[in-house]
Amino acid sequence: MTTTLRMARGVCLMLLALPITAPLAAQTTREGSGSAYSHSDGAAPTFAKQIAPILQAKCQVCHRPGSIAPMSLQTYDEVKPWAKLIKQRVQARTMPPWHIDKTVGIQDFKNDRSLTDAEIALIADWVDAGIPLGDPKDMPAPMEWPDPKTWQFSKQFGEPDLIVKSKPYTVMSSGQDKWWRPLVETGVTEPRWVRAIEVKPSVPNGRRVVHHVLTTLEQPEEGVTNLASTAEHSGMPMGPGLFMEWAVGKTGELFPEDAGKLILPGSRIRWEVHYYAIGQEIKDDVVELGVWYYPKGYEPKNRTILRMFNVAEGSELDIPPNAESMTQNFYVLQAPARLENFQPHMHMRGKALSLEAIYPDGRKEQLSLVSNFQWRWHVNYIYAEKSAPLLPKGTTLVFTAWHDNTSKNPNNPDPTQWVGWGDRTIDEMAHVWVDVTYLEQDDFDKQLAARKAKKTTSN
Ligand code: HEC
Repeated sequence: MTTTLRMARGVCLMLLALPITAPLAAQTTREGSGSAYSHSDGAAPTFAKQIAPILQAKCQVCHRPGSIAPMSLQTYDEVKPWAKLIKQRVQARTMPPWHIDKTVGIQDFKNDRSLTDAEIALIADWVDAGIPLGDPKDMPAPMEWPDPKTWQFSKQFGEPDLIVKSKPYTVMSSGQDKWWRPLVETGVTEPRWVRAIEVKPSVPNGRRVVHHVLTTLEQPEEGVTNLASTAEHSGMPMGPGLFMEWAVGKTGELFPEDAGKLILPGSRIRWEVHYYAIGQEIKDDVVELGVWYYPKGYEPKNRTILRMFNVAEGSELDIPPNAESMTQNFYVLQAPARLENFQPHMHMRGKALSLEAIYPDGRKEQLSLVSNFQWRWHVNYIYAEKSAPLLPKGTTLVFTAWHDNTSKNPNNPDPTQWVGWGDRTIDEMAHVWVDVTYLEQDDFDKQLAARKAKKTTSN
């Protein structure tokens, strides 16, 4: 089987990612404003003063009507019956969904919605104190959420320069999940650099039946993504590769100012829309892809390419009953690169996935480790610009995946089964999505020097 085929099939049933863009205002105003959370005067925290702001910043993007969580956590009355469970879930760090190991590797992320230890302690104290409301005058103004019907980037950039639509698909009221893979011409007539991409399911019906969307850019060019290959496992997907992956809660991708994706005349979008039945027929559903260009003539220095690093390939997944297994794969960077994100993908037996770098001088560094993998939560961990790993040419990327097929794994449906690679969530996978920005040597040197300078001044 070719790798391309495998990749097309290599998509699991449930794919949920943390929102990237919505609502940035809340993130920026609340982050770092530690004083709002402090209760050093010894008084018990109240809902109005300390808890509501945390829920706004870290929970409501999903816990509000029309979003993906089972209950709304906007008002005191809505939160009250859930208080005990909230305490339990935040202390176990299963809510909000953020499963990266906080003790190793890079910890600066653009989309971090995890709770700090102080926030978790506040929530616990509040529940233990009998969930006091406090003075309603202290309540923060309710959040304003973006209208799902409009393009989220339209505030910044206006309407998209290019809209590509999937072909209509009717989702039956019941039955198995469907993967809809139409191929659609972009109609682009000249090469353009892309600064932002957004995928928009239809509202309200598409939002109810679309699990995730992959859009792959197919266009006539050669040898672009071949920059991180391995001797044994060189069968990587070629071409410009995946354009964007969308999953519930995610809006779009905005590239750093020095980077973008290139779209060429003759290009086509290969859609993969994962639909699931909801007990009601949904007729002729269409998903839209919006693309915003850099101004004509502006060429970002670097090209970002979304790549799938297959951890399982070569070793092939082969997990005996009642056993844990480790799978590893290596990729050598053929050019200097900046990694923009880390998004591991496994299924029900998935336990942990790690990315290490072995530098050409032999130094080794743990970059990221998801140590509490939850297969329902395919969180995309997006590195903050100042911390995105800058890796010289010749760096070896070491991907390691652990699967747990024992009864100790609470997500394991049947530890007596032998498990191999496959599409179904009861089969396994192990791969990682990474947006790789390949850099010119001089640009890489400059970025590295700038970082070192910052480090020495701040130390
Ligand atoms: C990215 C979306 C998202 C965010 C952010 C999020 N949740 Fe959730 N939450 C969900 C979904 C979906 C479920 C149901 C599936 C599950 O339990 O994983 C859930 C389940 C829960 C449950 C368990 C409900 C039950 O019936 O078992 C609690 C409690 C909870 N969330 C609290 C919170 C709190 C508190 C926060 C913020 C500190 C938060 N969540 C942030 C999406 C989210």
